[in-house]
Amino acid sequence: MTTPDFLTHGFGDSPEVELDDVPVRGIVPDWLEGTLLRNGPGTFQVGERRYRHWFDGLAMLHRFTLQGGRVSYANRFLETKAYSAARDDGRIAYPEFATDPCRSLFARAMAVFDPQVTDSAKVNITRLAERYLALAETPVQVEFDPQTLKTVGVDSWDTSTFGRMTTVHPHVDGDRGEAVNLVVRYGASSRYVFRQVDLADGGALDGTDLATRRVAKPSYIHSFGMSGRYLVLAEFPLVVNPISLLLWLRPYIENFRWEPRRGARFHLFDRETGAHVRTLRAPAFFAFHHVNAYDDGDDVVVDLVGYDDADIIGAFYLHRLEEPDARIPPGTLRRFRLPVRGGDGTVTGEELSPTGIELPSLDYDRMNTRPDQRYVYGVGLSGERGFYDRLVKIDTGAADGSGRSTKIWSEPGCYPGEGVFAGRPGREREDDGVVLSVVLDSERGTSFLLVLDAEGFTEIARAELPHPVLLGYHGRYDTSA
Ligand SMILES: [Fe+2]
Repeated sequence: MTTPDFLTHGFGDSPEVELDDVPVRGIVPDWLEGTLLRNGPGTFQVGERRYRHWFDGLAMLHRFTLQGGRVSYANRFLETKAYSAARDDGRIAYPEFATDPCRSLFARAMAVFDPQVTDSAKVNITRLAERYLALAETPVQVEFDPQTLKTVGVDSWDTSTFGRMTTVHPHVDGDRGEAVNLVVRYGASSRYVFRQVDLADGGALDGTDLATRRVAKPSYIHSFGMSGRYLVLAEFPLVVNPISLLLWLRPYIENFRWEPRRGARFHLFDRETGAHVRTLRAPAFFAFHHVNAYDDGDDVVVDLVGYDDADIIGAFYLHRLEEPDARIPPGTLRRFRLPVRGGDGTVTGEELSPTGIELPSLDYDRMNTRPDQRYVYGVGLSGERGFYDRLVKIDTGAADGSGRSTKIWSEPGCYPGEGVFAGRPGREREDDGVVLSVVLDSERGTSFLLVLDAEGFTEIARAELPHPVLLGYHGRYDTSA
């Protein structure tokens, strides 16, 4: 069987490089002066072993700096203990999402509660005050210098890293000067805990417990929603018995079980007081990503990318992607209207578009929590085989649902990563700006930074690297990096 090109180039191995001047085709707008920082896997191969899942690779940071119409690029592995063990000893030394080190049963025990949990913070990037953090679902977050991409140190969202997992999608509210993230504390009495960080403290993560909820079998939760008034915890029936994590007989995510008869739940917490306000029930579904949430009278409206089940996680095993009939279930943009009071306590979602989408993004800084937010950018699938091979822009329409539409960008053999919106300074229209995406051209075996006009969703420029960038996860556009 021939390995598809997107697997060879998108799930292989990256060299560390620094390029002062990347050739540009087209015109990069004058106003586009900033840096796209991206996180993702830098290699899937360690010694004789290969990581098993898309979410496992060793963390590598990327920097595309746009200035005066020119583009420079650099990448660097995050200098972590996981990376040192891989580079120096050629071994996978720490448990990842779906790959465990080779080790004795005894050594496996207590692994999630072991402070030696992986520090390969590969999934996302955030900026808290002046600090840039590479984010992981483990409690270990890694600070780095956005110019050199050098690792600065580690931090944690919680007071302990013992028995904790977190999300890589904290919400940052610059107006209120605070950031919030969800931590799951596993143990005999497991808890969901929203941790709030005061940005006036320089972005230090030693925050406070804002809201807490006990849970017998915690759900796998990758993100949460935040409106102006509420935190929204969507709890899916992909759950784990904490004892299973204690015993750690299998890799982290394989301890979770899909139990659809439990259904899904939305827990609402007051952002001011942390009080639990209401729990609503919904038919079983799964999601990685919330998109936006906003208050509408006595309702909280929650948009997310939903799936009917959690099969999407299994679809990202590398051996599954190598199968000729590998299928990637398409997630769809769904809206849930959650009444804070009244009704029978159950809700169902509305599909905003039939077009599949993942890695959703929006003009977060300006539009998050706003009811008039309309545009969602993401990756999608032209079929159900292969891998994400197009960028999509979904217009969720006006408040009455009118005007909904979808725009697509694709090119044969090309596999785009997350589309990141960069707005024109002083913009009044929501989509006045560009969407940046690192695209793998699988036939040429190279990647390019694509610059799309966000309104028309058409190409205006691309900066072509001489090498491939592995298919990554999340990043951010930053004008102060
Ligand atoms: Fe994510």
